[in-house]
Amino acid sequence: MKRHLFLVGFMGAGKTSVARLVARELDRDFLDVDAMIEREQDTTIPVIFAERGEERFRALESAMLASLQDREPAVVACGGGIVLRPENRALLGKTGTVVYLKVTGAEALARIGDMASRPLLAGSGGQLAATQLLKAREVLYESVADATVDTVGRTPDEVAREVIEAVGAVEGQ
Ligand code: S3P
Repeated sequence: MKRHLFLVGFMGAGKTSVARLVARELDRDFLDVDAMIEREQDTTIPVIFAERGEERFRALESAMLASLQDREPAVVACGGGIVLRPENRALLGKTGTVVYLKVTGAEALARIGDMASRPLLAGSGGQLAATQLLKAREVLYESVADATVDTVGRTPDEVAREVIEAVGAVEGQ
C-alpha cells in the first residue's frame, strides 16, 4: 500500500469533510493541506493570495505536499489547485493512492456558499470562473486519479463509503 490516500477535486467537492470521515474509518491521520499552510503561515489563504499572490501560494502548497513524504500514512485533503503543477502531480502518484471527488460547477458553488473564502472565485464573476476553471482542470484531476467518486447528490458519509470501497479495489485489499 502506498503511504497516503489523497483526495483531490474542485473546490466544494467535499474533500475536507470526506477525508475526515475516511481517516476516522481507516484509523489513519487526517491532514488538510490548506489548513496546514494556514497554520504554518499564521494567516488565511485569502490573505496569502491578496498579499503575496497565487504563485507564492502555489510554492507554499508544493512545499507542504513535499513535506508529507516523511509523515505517517494519512488521509490527505488537498487544495483544488494542487494538480496544477506537474511536480505535484508526480508526487501525488508516487506517494499515495489518489481519489478524485467529482462535482459539477453548479453544485460546487451551492456548497461553497461564501465565496470570499475562495479567492479564485471571489467577486461578481464567480460562477463563470468556477465553470471555466473546472473545465480546464478536469483533465488534470483525471490524469492523477487512481479512482473517481461522483459526489453529486450524495452525503459526505455516502461519498466516504465509496472512497473506502474504491481504495480497497485499487489497492487490492
Ligand atoms: C484553490 C482551492 C482552495 C485553496 C485555494 C486555491 C484552487 O482549496 O487551496 O483557495 O485553486 O482550486 P479547496 O479546494 O479546499 O477549496
